[in-house]
Amino acid sequence: MSNIESAVQLLTDVSQKRAIPVPILTARLELRPFQDGDTEEIVQLLADPEVTRFIGEVRTREAATSSVRVMRDAHAARGWGTLAVFPHGDHGCVGYCGVRPLPHTTEVEIAFALQRRCWNRGYATEAATASMDAAFRCLGVNSIVATVYPANKASLRVLEKLGMSLDSEVFGHWPMTTALLFRIERAKWQARDVRTAIGVG
Ligand SMILES: CC(C)(COP(=O)(O)OP(=O)(O)OC[C@H]1O[C@@H](n2cnc3c(N)ncnc32)[C@H](O)[C@@H]1OP(=O)(O)O)[C@@H](O)C(=O)NCCC(=O)NCCS
Repeated sequence: MSNIESAVQLLTDVSQKRAIPVPILTARLELRPFQDGDTEEIVQLLADPEVTRFIGEVRTREAATSSVRVMRDAHAARGWGTLAVFPHGDHGCVGYCGVRPLPHTTEVEIAFALQRRCWNRGYATEAATASMDAAFRCLGVNSIVATVYPANKASLRVLEKLGMSLDSEVFGHWPMTTALLFRIERAKWQARDVRTAIGVG
């Protein structure tokens, strides 16, 4: 086994001991690992230029199919990762949300993308809140980050509702302009007002 393969194996072993139980249930949503049957919805999601504006190019069917496999396999390998999102009573997958490793760092980031028909109902905030809560409880992380482009106002607002604060500027990859790294520490997460955050009460 090469050095790189050994390092990957080590990280996988460590991660597997720290699984996040699934499904994650919220008042309106179910989050569970991806299955091949979710592919068609993700093909549609990633074919929408409004959805992909800040998360990369519009994906071909092949690329979107591959993304589903990557999310499914990463979750199976680590025991945590981005999950498929289902509103209760709506039979389709409407997008993804969950915590995943920020590439080439030891940071855990929250990520989300939903079909346009579901925007502005509070779903991303609700799904991210439950995902981050589970991550703080189960993974032993001290903070969770998010990367966002300054022009992505909806995502910025979600991060604000999650109580996250600007940490630093970072290189963006899609597009290749400056992006922002937001962060929330465990103590601040535990002290936040949950009812305000998810718009209850
Ligand atoms: C980002 C995204 C997941 C948000 O999903 P969502 O379910 O609509 O999010 P929520 O409903 O929880 O919150 C959205 C908030 O942004 C606000 N918002 C939406 N568009 C906005 C805009 N152009 N300017 C300012 N605020 C905006 C909404 O009013 C809402 O805030 P409010 O609750 O105070 O009214 C969704 O827009 C999406 O899928 N975007 C494409 C993928 C993407 O960019 N992902 C994030 C990468 S960092």
